[in-house]
Amino acid sequence: MAKKILIVDDDIDTLKLVGMMLEQKGYEILATSNGKKALEIADAKLPDLILLDVMMPEMDGYEVSRRLRANPETEPIPIIMFTAKSQVDDKIEGLEAGADAYLTKPTQPRELFAQVKAILKRAPKRAAVVQAPVVAPPTGKVFGVLAAKGGIGVSTLALNLAVSLHDKTEESTILSDYRPGQGTLSLDLGLRNPSGMLKLLENNKVISQKDVKGNLLPHASGIKTLLASHEPEDAKYTEEADKFLAITKHLRYLASYIILDLGSSFSPLISTVIDQCDRVILCMEPTPNNVQQTRLLFDALVKAGVGMGLITNVLINRMRTSVQLNLEQVEDIFGHPVSTVFTPVPEMAYQAARANIPLIHQSPSSLTSRQFEKLASVLA
Ligand SMILES: Nc1ncnc2c1ncn2[C@@H]1O[C@H](COP(=O)(O)OP(=O)(O)OP(=O)(O)O)[C@@H](O)[C@H]1O
Ligand SMILES: [Mg+2]
Repeated sequence: MAKKILIVDDDIDTLKLVGMMLEQKGYEILATSNGKKALEIADAKLPDLILLDVMMPEMDGYEVSRRLRANPETEPIPIIMFTAKSQVDDKIEGLEAGADAYLTKPTQPRELFAQVKAILKRAPKRAAVVQAPVVAPPTGKVFGVLAAKGGIGVSTLALNLAVSLHDKTEESTILSDYRPGQGTLSLDLGLRNPSGMLKLLENNKVISQKDVKGNLLPHASGIKTLLASHEPEDAKYTEEADKFLAITKHLRYLASYIILDLGSSFSPLISTVIDQCDRVILCMEPTPNNVQQTRLLFDALVKAGVGMGLITNVLINRMRTSVQLNLEQVEDIFGHPVSTVFTPVPEMAYQAARANIPLIHQSPSSLTSRQFEKLASVLA
């Protein structure tokens, strides 16, 4: 079978010329002039080799290379940096960003062919070494908890679900909130200024499985955590969707259950990681507007490729009031069945948060705790 080569260069003439030369040599060519697109193609088509230009608008070759290396799927693909730069420092930066070889433009066709051939010849050996720990299928199941608006109990559910799954199965469980700058789980658990997630995000290095493992923080309840900071300025890391994708892929290897508090916006971050979820738990409250909003979010999830059968809809009552919808009315507006209804326990929820103890440990005999356990049983 012909080897697949992805060429990435913002200069269309180079793209065409190099593409044609390699095509004539019998290689199958994929091409793009955009770094972001290159990441998508690499992840979807897994080429045997990537020829990567350095100077590109939007995302330069160094960044593309770093991100390719951060994704376990694309991590083993050999990269030849293909650039007009010839300074030693630039070469070093390229190699540090993960390139395997360097070609200086303008390149002689013979040199290009020789490099491509040599790298492809060595590639299977390298891939075997690098892939060894990665090819074993991950054993962890990822459950993402999400809502269409804030403040309706997503974090409370994510936390209690994680603890309940761990209690029930005695399997390793990780709880993480993908809400940089808005993390509240650390406050609920009494973990001051958690730095694990921040360390992974602020570092410009490729995030390895070892890095993720080294930044997990155990909690007294028995679960491990990787929590977002609550410093407002850290919200800037919401833009680092690829890093969150890499973290999610690594987490799958580090525990049996991974519970993600995905918050309340269908941001690019969330749409990037959502297809890593084995199940999405969609939370809503019994008000007409929120149910309608949640219906739209359900449709958006399906449009993003989440199977309808993989979405578990739950209704969270936080207040004791007669002026809200009942289950039948909710299902009528929502258009899908709701699997669990949580009863309001404002005092217990408050006490649990004050004592930094998950509700199911603080009030194990309450109806709400049993509802968390029931949902955990269904998911396990
Ligand atoms: N079943 C419940 N009954 C009463 N109060 C609850 C219940 N579940 C959660 N709460 C309370 O509701 C408030 C919001 O919960 P939580 O922080 O889990 O929501 P969230 O959707 O994660 O909010 P945010 O968008 O701010 O992250 C908290 O004070 C929590 O203690
Ligand atoms: Mg929250």
